[in-house]
Amino acid sequence: MKGVETSYHGLCTREAEVKFRTIMARKKGMKRTFVVVFMSLAVFFFLGILVGWLVSTSRNQQRKHTQNVRMQLVSEMKAENIKAFLRDFTKIPHLSGTEQNLELAKRIQSQWKNFGLDKAELVHYDVLLSYPNKSNPNYISIIDENGHEIYNTSLFEIPPKGYENFTDIVPPYNAFSAQGEPEGDLVYVNYARTEDFFLLERNMSINCTGKIVIARYGKIFRGNKVKNAMLAGAKGIILFSDPADYCAPGVKPYPDGWNLPGGGVQRGNVLNLNGAGDPLTPGYPAKEFTYRYNADEGVGLPSIPVHPIGYHDAEQILKLMGGPSPPNSWKGNLNISYNIGPGFLSNVSTRRVRMHVNTNNKVTRIYDVIGTIRGAVEPDRYIILGGHRDSWVFGGIDPTTGAAVLQEIARSFGKKLREGWRPRRTIIFASWDAEEFGLLGSTEWAEENAKILQERGVAYINSDSSIEGNHTLRIDCTPLLYKLVYNLTKQIASPDEGFKNKSLYESWLQKDPSIDKPDLPRINKLGSGSDFEAYFQRLGIASGRVRYTKNRKTDKYSNYPVYHTVYETFELVEQFYDPTFKKQLAVAQMRGSLVYELADSMVLPFNVQDYGEELKNYADSIYKLAKKNDHEMDEFGVSFDPLYSAIKNFTAAANGLHQRLDKVDYNDPLAVRILNDQLMFAERAFIDPLGLPGRPFYRHIIFAPSSHNKYAGESFPGIYDALFDIENKHDPRTAWEEVKRQISIATFTVQAAAETLREVS
Ligand SMILES: *[C@@H]1O[C@H](CO)[C@@H](O)[C@H](O)[C@H]1NC(C)=O
Ligand SMILES: *[C@@H]1O[C@H](CO)[C@@H](O)[C@H](O)[C@H]1NC(C)=O
Ligand SMILES: *[C@@H]1O[C@H](CO)[C@@H](O)[C@H](O)[C@H]1NC(C)=O
Ligand SMILES: *[C@@H]1O[C@H](CO)[C@@H](O)[C@H](O)[C@H]1NC(C)=O
Ligand SMILES: *[C@@H]1O[C@H](CO)[C@@H](O)[C@H](O)[C@H]1NC(C)=O
Ligand SMILES: *[C@@H]1O[C@H](CO)[C@@H](O)[C@H](O)[C@H]1NC(C)=O
Ligand SMILES: *[C@@H]1O[C@H](CO)[C@@H](O)[C@H](O)[C@H]1NC(C)=O
Ligand SMILES: *[C@@H]1O[C@H](CO)[C@@H](O)[C@H](O)[C@H]1NC(C)=O
Ligand SMILES: *[C@@H]1O[C@H](CO)[C@@H](O)[C@H](O)[C@H]1NC(C)=O
Ligand SMILES: *[C@@H]1O[C@H](CO)[C@@H](O)[C@H](O)[C@H]1NC(C)=O
Ligand SMILES: *[C@@H]1O[C@H](CO)[C@@H](O)[C@H](O)[C@H]1NC(C)=O
Ligand SMILES: [Zn+2]
Repeated sequence: MKGVETSYHGLCTREAEVKFRTIMARKKGMKRTFVVVFMSLAVFFFLGILVGWLVSTSRNQQRKHTQNVRMQLVSEMKAENIKAFLRDFTKIPHLSGTEQNLELAKRIQSQWKNFGLDKAELVHYDVLLSYPNKSNPNYISIIDENGHEIYNTSLFEIPPKGYENFTDIVPPYNAFSAQGEPEGDLVYVNYARTEDFFLLERNMSINCTGKIVIARYGKIFRGNKVKNAMLAGAKGIILFSDPADYCAPGVKPYPDGWNLPGGGVQRGNVLNLNGAGDPLTPGYPAKEFTYRYNADEGVGLPSIPVHPIGYHDAEQILKLMGGPSPPNSWKGNLNISYNIGPGFLSNVSTRRVRMHVNTNNKVTRIYDVIGTIRGAVEPDRYIILGGHRDSWVFGGIDPTTGAAVLQEIARSFGKKLREGWRPRRTIIFASWDAEEFGLLGSTEWAEENAKILQERGVAYINSDSSIEGNHTLRIDCTPLLYKLVYNLTKQIASPDEGFKNKSLYESWLQKDPSIDKPDLPRINKLGSGSDFEAYFQRLGIASGRVRYTKNRKTDKYSNYPVYHTVYETFELVEQFYDPTFKKQLAVAQMRGSLVYELADSMVLPFNVQDYGEELKNYADSIYKLAKKNDHEMDEFGVSFDPLYSAIKNFTAAANGLHQRLDKVDYNDPLAVRILNDQLMFAERAFIDPLGLPGRPFYRHIIFAPSSHNKYAGESFPGIYDALFDIENKHDPRTAWEEVKRQISIATFTVQAAAETLREVS
């Protein structure tokens, strides 16, 4: 890489010299004074041209070079390899904390070494995990007036054919549930969203205090449901998968189709960590020396029992429900009334529900695999490609369609390395552990390396599940990456039916145009729900995620139907989602291309102007929200003008930075590095060390996981949360003072970020 640059330089100077001599020769025989004047002018003139020419030539050469290497990497990746990795990594369960998952870590480590990475190491942490008690299973029963358990929900899912003999399939449970045997009347709370509890409490006057609530899975992160149930005073919560949310019309249940069978149950953790990582060591890596809180002091642990069931069991319980009938939007697709309760119909009103939850929290060793390709020119600048390895059972889609893609990217980069190539910057590959238990492996590593990462982290690309559907591309990323994403998707082949010889960009644009700019495909805000969280929301490292997704217009189910069940197998992917593995290949090529461009471009491929434009859009939408309370804004003197002023200043500074980037001399390494550092630290500038109110590990002022749904991204989250439900606050003055405080924090942060973009004088 270094050698190549020098030879460009040499070439340019030689050619320039030849030109220069010709010019000089033509000048012979002219009058002396004229010659002197003319020559000085000419020298200035041609020096100008020369400099411009040198700059644009080395720029074009560099661009051609990176395009070539990227094309080689992309064409090295093969669908059949991804298929082989997926087959291999999904043969047995890989629950975090088990021997099997350690064995897989070691295999991935040795494969990375064989691929040719410079280093591949296991890093361990001792974190709080949670497992059911094998001899004391979890279930829910209906009890009669004598306390007899006359109906019990199932203790396990029926494994698919060929997988009957596994003894280590963890039964469906909600990790980190409190233990207990609460008993009482049920209340049906729809999705247990904030707005669902508002409707129950405010419109229907139903009080959940002391009740067990039953909620359908879907729409929001399950941990938020549990938190809402606790706030409503519930003493237990049952989560079920409704066919309305986990079955597509006209599709058969697995194994004949890809729908959720009646006995299928979604596992998943129910923590409210807000980015803390290991519940017992918030802020610090869970190493041997680290101080641990007591298990009952852990961050985000629910205080009530939680247990998930399938729709066969749910139907048996819900069909007995009495009380008022629900609004239509609360009805699922079971053939029952969806009465809200509390309690059962009058002819069965003596029956109650009893939960049995005996799940144990346990400090357990987990293992990340960290692989490195050392950068040739800027080894102190890191591009991270990370995805988790642990799965609930076989992990057919989640995470192994991501882990297999990560493996194929590592292989192709390793091959190029062996051919003598080396990226400008350092690339770090990470196979995270314990993502399913709260993003623990990725967060602990971020905590252990926080000082280094905040100095050297350029970008983080996530490699969790590469498919959740087979319709089109889905990208969530920082605005810094919009331009790069559009550029790269134009250079990757679309894997879609009917898009032969078309680019990924073309099929993506046609299938999912953005709402405000229909000539561009949609890109989403980053929320959370996967391992980029600590890197983006806590450390302020530019991040992005790429996957294939369902049709947002027609497909109304949540996640994908068999998400986190025993039915997530290799065959599910091979038969129903991606038989040719071409969708996963396109995802591999896109993730790999992002990593490559970030690691090897002379100038970082970030666009700060797009950030400015988005800041303006986010400000417009939060302003519109506030304006619903026009009178109060006037009464309490709330103004967004300073925020708009800061955004204007940010945009001006961003324009200036890009003008300097257009002119920077590629042969002046220090000038390039100065601008690159401004680009790299642009995302970091949005970090407030104090964090958001009550959420010290969510420190990005522009984006955070929504307080009502961890999966979704919220923009200007501090202002948004201050405005939320403000019309129902007991003390409007105090509430609006908080809005003003949050506007000022956002204003300061944007203005301070603008200052970092200005030319250093
Ligand atoms: C699991 O349940 C059995 C039977 O009730 C009990 O003896 C044992 O202590 C439990 N194990 C743990 C780790 O709590
Ligand atoms: C439910 O399980 C309990 C505990 O094992 C048992 O006593 C009861 O008979 C079971 N009820 C039914 C209907 O199977
Ligand atoms: C499961 O075990 C049974 C009994 O040992 C055996 O007959 C069967 O072939 C096994 N199935 C698989 C898929 O290995
Ligand atoms: C609930 O009550 C609010 C305020 O009275 C009303 O605006 C809303 O339409 C009601 N919603 C439903 C679904 O009844
Ligand atoms: C709900 O009931 C509990 C006790 O049963 C009571 O303390 C609480 O005030 C009630 N909440 C509302 C909103 O009425
Ligand atoms: C729904 O249930 C009712 C009675 O519970 C029954 O008469 C009806 O046939 C059921 N409908 C379907 C589509 O199963
Ligand atoms: C209770 O009443 C409902 C209809 O209101 C009926 O479908 C159900 O079979 C009855 N259950 C019992 C146990 O009588
Ligand atoms: C995207 O492509 C355009 C046109 O080739 C180029 O000018 C621009 O620098 C690229 N931007 C990024 C971030 O890759
Ligand atoms: C595909 O594109 C290439 C170059 O853009 C062109 O030469 C070729 O004819 C196209 N093939 C089809 C089937 O459209
Ligand atoms: C795959 O694509 C086909 C054609 O669009 C669609 O009918 C099918 O539902 C998709 N499969 C899955 C699992 O989404
Ligand atoms: C934006 O820049 C102008 C001109 O430098 C300055 O007067 C103004 O205070 C800045 N806005 C903020 C919010 O700092
Ligand atoms: Zn995952």
